[in-house]
Amino acid sequence: MAESVYDVIMRRRSVRSFLDTPVEEEKVQQLLDAAIQAPSGGNIQPISIIRIEKPESRDKLAKLAVNQPWVAKAPLCLLFCIDFHRTGKWAQAEGASYGGEKALMSFLLAYADVFCSAENAVLCATSLGLGTVYIGMVLAAMTEIRSEFGLPDKVVPVVALCVGYPKKIPAGITKLPKAAMVHSERYEEKSPEELKQLYREKYGDLTADVKKYFERTYQEALEMEEQSRPGFTDKVARLMARMEVGNAAQLLFKMRYPDEAMKRMGESIIKSLREAGIECL
Ligand SMILES: Cc1cc2nc3c(=O)[nH]c(=O)nc-3n(C[C@H](O)[C@H](O)[C@H](O)COP(=O)(O)O)c2cc1C
Repeated sequence: MAESVYDVIMRRRSVRSFLDTPVEEEKVQQLLDAAIQAPSGGNIQPISIIRIEKPESRDKLAKLAVNQPWVAKAPLCLLFCIDFHRTGKWAQAEGASYGGEKALMSFLLAYADVFCSAENAVLCATSLGLGTVYIGMVLAAMTEIRSEFGLPDKVVPVVALCVGYPKKIPAGITKLPKAAMVHSERYEEKSPEELKQLYREKYGDLTADVKKYFERTYQEALEMEEQSRPGFTDKVARLMARMEVGNAAQLLFKMRYPDEAMKRMGESIIKSLREAGIECL
């Protein structure tokens, strides 16, 4: 019996360890069909997908995406871009005018389109026995990636998707319980204690065995250690001790995604967007 979409969704995991086996062209075409078939605001589809398969190109992308080794090791990488260039050029050729790059609403719709499209490819890949992982860090190297992969003005990378046959599928990833995320009719406020309990269901407690804790909270560190930086998790553990990180919230917001760093990155993304002729932010 064919696997249900629900079952595919529930068994999907981000995969960061890939076999060298190439993805068959027939399967690549299916992923691309699934991506193109996705919902799109106004069905305008202002996106482009760059296939990146040459090892030297994957190496370059891996380095630009802050040295994530799995980007180089996955046999296929799909770079999902907002493309106001093609859409505007077509509109102009047909005697219309489209300035998506000047309108925040068009930008937000195009950004959402990218993820509808990419997630269709993810689920299709999962159902075909392939593994995937999103690479959001392409945002941090937008200008360099545009230049490396020949993206014209008004075309910007939003996310990359690594695709390949999994060598290993992580088991420990947990999600929030429904009670934390779903409200009935109106927003239902939770007390700090209730929230701590709900988040603890997801992350568990930080124990002396930091590696075990990373299976739920920081798979990237485990893969980084295995694939390119021996001793990485011990280094992270030492940093956690130095910064007095004692739980998942502190790991996330004191160490991995502190507000100041996120703000700086956002400012640099706005600058890159403007350099690309996207001026709505
Ligand atoms: C927008 C977005 C950006 C992401 N960027 C990265 C990334 O740069 N590197 C990476 O290894 N994983 C990345 N991920 C994968 C997440 O780390 C992963 O989805 C999360 O840890 C939950 O694991 P799961 O996908 O197995 O449920 C990204 C996911 C999303 C949705």
